[in-house]
Amino acid sequence: MGKILAISNQKGGVGKTTTSVNLSSSLSYLGKKVLLIDIDYQANATTYMGINRANLKYTVADIFHERVSIHEVIQKVPSVNVDIIPARYELGTIEHSLISHSNKDYILSNAIEEVKDLYDYIIIDCPPSLGIVTINGLTASDSVIIPVQCEFLALDGLTQLLNTIRLIQNKQKFNNKKLNIEGVLLTMLDTRSNIGYEVINEVKTYFKEKVFKTIIPRNVKCSVAPSYGLPVTEFSPRSKGSISYQNLAKEVAKLNE
Ligand SMILES: Nc1ncnc2c1ncn2[C@@H]1O[C@H](COP(=O)(O)OP(=O)(O)OP(=O)(O)O)[C@@H](O)[C@H]1O
Ligand SMILES: [Mg+2]
Repeated sequence: MGKILAISNQKGGVGKTTTSVNLSSSLSYLGKKVLLIDIDYQANATTYMGINRANLKYTVADIFHERVSIHEVIQKVPSVNVDIIPARYELGTIEHSLISHSNKDYILSNAIEEVKDLYDYIIIDCPPSLGIVTINGLTASDSVIIPVQCEFLALDGLTQLLNTIRLIQNKQKFNNKKLNIEGVLLTMLDTRSNIGYEVINEVKTYFKEKVFKTIIPRNVKCSVAPSYGLPVTEFSPRSKGSISYQNLAKEVAKLNE
């Protein structure tokens, strides 16, 4: 049965998508069957994985509109052995369309139920918000990975995310799940400046053993790889960014043995 992991932080640009894409590719190298679900209307995970958005017949928005079966939306990523449910700009209006839906928080959870036994891991790349789409992603998940950028104001707004997680835990009685925090992932560490190390101390004081041992360094290959439509683990396998994401995958796999 697949483990469902949301990658979430409502703060923008902290490395959610980079983590979703490279954790997916790295888990696949460990022989795991992985499905990556893009629920961000910016569709960055879709683009980072080299999917041409213009040619898509269906996207995750069709799942939210309950127009097609989830099976029809699943595609193969060209470069790695990972399946993907792509997103596109039309997801941007979904929050409005779902306002009066009676079971709006559970749409994704219900859809994933149909395929979860086909995968070892289902990774959900959440948007930088705490709206209905993110609530769907978290409600569908067994646990959440929270990427935190090693920069000034790193912990800003995290209380809101933690409150949202608590609210979802209270509601999840209805779909027999209990959302856990899988771990906090420190990202984009600049080893030449002190601020990054100060953030690491602050995050470890607050989240203690919930902080992943793997820390993702700032590495230019991570920011170049998406323009080639490749995970950094394919674009530059021996780069520091690639190796750190492969270490993260080993840590996640070990936690779930
Ligand atoms: N380890 C890294 N080293 C260097 N650049 C990185 C690293 N991780 C991510 N980036 C770059 O930082 C930017 C933000 O990363 P990413 O898109 O993963 O963040 P995000 O949290 O998904 O953003 P959003 O909130 O907009 O969805 C991107 O340009 C990405 O290429
Ligand atoms: Mg993103």
